[in-house]
Amino acid sequence: MKNLEELFEHQLQDLHSAEDQLTEALPKMIKNAEDSNLKKAFESHLEETKEHKKRIEEVCKDLGFKSKGEKCKAMEGLIKEAEGFLKEVKDTDVKHAGMIAEAQRVEHYEISGYGTAVRYAKELGHNDVAKKLQKTLDEEYAADKKLNDLAENRLNKKAKS
Ligand SMILES: [Fe+2]
Repeated sequence: MKNLEELFEHQLQDLHSAEDQLTEALPKMIKNAEDSNLKKAFESHLEETKEHKKRIEEVCKDLGFKSKGEKCKAMEGLIKEAEGFLKEVKDTDVKHAGMIAEAQRVEHYEISGYGTAVRYAKELGHNDVAKKLQKTLDEEYAADKKLNDLAENRLNKKAKS
């Protein structure tokens, strides 16, 4: 990588791989969520995640970048950790609290990635691209907030007993 443009391409490929892996992993979270609100949150985020992946493909096409190339090892690790947790946990309420924790780790990772990508897009003068990526960033923040509300309102308290 020689310049910010190439670093930007690399970051977008990383995010594309992250969204791709998440598309594969979320159905397992949906299956394991025995709380209807949590299930709904994962289902709607799966739909958003598919959109996010497509949005990166569009953005890369606009910029003349390749969208594939990098495997996001951080997302791979986060997903492995979540799957390992699901194998170990016995209590349903504890499982839900832990799933939220794992999902929020994923959201925070994506928020940081898209935050950087938006900034690079602006610095490089790609304002339309910045707007599209900002839309995804806003949706990641909203998904994180929804998980936070679920944890605070109910699921953590249930897991205590
Ligand atoms: Fe996403």
